Amino acid sequence: MRRPPPRTLRGQLTAGLVALLALACLGVGITTALALRGFLLGRLDDQLSASGGRFAASLEHEARPDADNRADTRGQAESTLGARLLNGRVTQAAVVDDATDRHLRLTDGDRHTLAAVPADGHGRSVRLSTLGAYRVTAVYGDDQDILITGLPLHPVEETVHRLEAVEAALFGAALVVTGIAGAVWVRVSLRPLQRVTARAAEVAGLPLASGEIAMPGPLPDTDPRTEVGQVGTALNHMLGHVEDALTRRQASEERLRQFAADASHELRTPVANIRGHAESALRHPGTVPGEVHHALERIDAESQRMTRLVDDLLLLARLDAGRPLEHEPVDLTLLILNATDDARAAGPGHHWVLDLPEEPVTVPGDAHRLQQAIGNLLANARTHTPPGTEVTITLAADPADVSVSVSDDGPGIPEELQSEVFGRFVRADHARSRSTGSTGLGLSIVHAVITAHDGIITLDSSPGRTTFRLTLPRR
Ligand SMILES: Nc1ncnc2c1ncn2[C@@H]1O[C@H](COP(=O)(O)OP(=O)(O)OP(=O)(O)O)[C@@H](O)[C@H]1O
Ligand SMILES: [Mg+2]
Repeated sequence: MRRPPPRTLRGQLTAGLVALLALACLGVGITTALALRGFLLGRLDDQLSASGGRFAASLEHEARPDADNRADTRGQAESTLGARLLNGRVTQAAVVDDATDRHLRLTDGDRHTLAAVPADGHGRSVRLSTLGAYRVTAVYGDDQDILITGLPLHPVEETVHRLEAVEAALFGAALVVTGIAGAVWVRVSLRPLQRVTARAAEVAGLPLASGEIAMPGPLPDTDPRTEVGQVGTALNHMLGHVEDALTRRQASEERLRQFAADASHELRTPVANIRGHAESALRHPGTVPGEVHHALERIDAESQRMTRLVDDLLLLARLDAGRPLEHEPVDLTLLILNATDDARAAGPGHHWVLDLPEEPVTVPGDAHRLQQAIGNLLANARTHTPPGTEVTITLAADPADVSVSVSDDGPGIPEELQSEVFGRFVRADHARSRSTGSTGLGLSIVHAVITAHDGIITLDSSPGRTTFRLTLPRR
């Protein structure tokens, strides 16, 4: 199977570097081998033309029967080939062997090859089955014969092969060294890019959705002449914009919170006044028409509800602003007993079941706020379930945490409401809620109070069983 090419920039750069060097080595190798071969062949040709067919010409005498007439091998190199052609046919052929001539038995193919060499005095490379590769020249002799002289090519081939082997070893080593050094060099050069990536990842991991966010400082790699510097500059600009936007969002959230806090604070006095006036009008001793009396009762009830709403809003605004809470030991056992007593009085039709440990359990926190949170859960279990529902309040403690769960066997919270039930003004039935006086702030207050205590709140609800569980750290 073919390995896929490297994907990282580092791998690609290193591979490209090595591939380019390999191409350059191949070019140099081929050029030098060809040049050396050309040079050596030229020298061989010079040697052949210097011999001028003397050895081949002397073969004519060798053909005579007297044994003394040997061919003239003086000054001829070992393995020199001599051949004589008459009328296009090879009549004699010999090689110099140990400074004397040795008659050659040529095959028909070799005879053909030799006969085909043009008699122009230029060197030609031929392959003879009896001798191997040879460089030959052919010239005309005195008596209309053609004289062929040849020298073996194998020293030339050997020298060229030797050069090729040396070059292959050298270039191979150069490629390995370049690969390793290149990889290190590329890694070092790309280090700033890693810083950019790390910074981008760091920002991506920040909880940008809300709250005050400490953005990391700008990147040091900002040299506009380098690509990495350009990326760094662009990222710094982007981070600047993001920080700017976050600061503005934070400020606008802050203003909104402040507005909610101010508005609810300002509303408290007029609402209290309305309520006071309604109450004193209701206490008026004289006879009041029934309709007016009813209207006054409605004003009293609605202003009570409005007082509660304004108080809830103010509390939420304060919790949002991160106002520090009280931090004293709170006896949760006592707190739950009191809250259940209140709930029992308000909802005598429900069955209130307590499951408390023997020992009193305390957590550090704000007693008033915790009482309010547990009270809200009990109020929900009372108001959103029919009479006869059993509500169980369980307190459990381990060395690290304390958990309070309020569980009822009522109809449960609709599935689609469960994920947002801790949001503000979220309630199942708006039309009905308005008449029962519910606002949908109860659970958001529980959530805000528990979160301010570094605790968590979970909900598990299905028809027939709804459980809210608060977990508070003990330190
Ligand atoms: N134990 C429960 N059983 C069934 N539904 C519940 C229960 N507790 C809460 N809910 C649903 O969750 C909604 C939100 O509760 P939340 O306490 O926030 O507001 P609320 O009770 O409607 O109003 P508020 O508490 O401000 O008077 C409720 O309106 C109700 O539909
Ligand atoms: Mg409620």
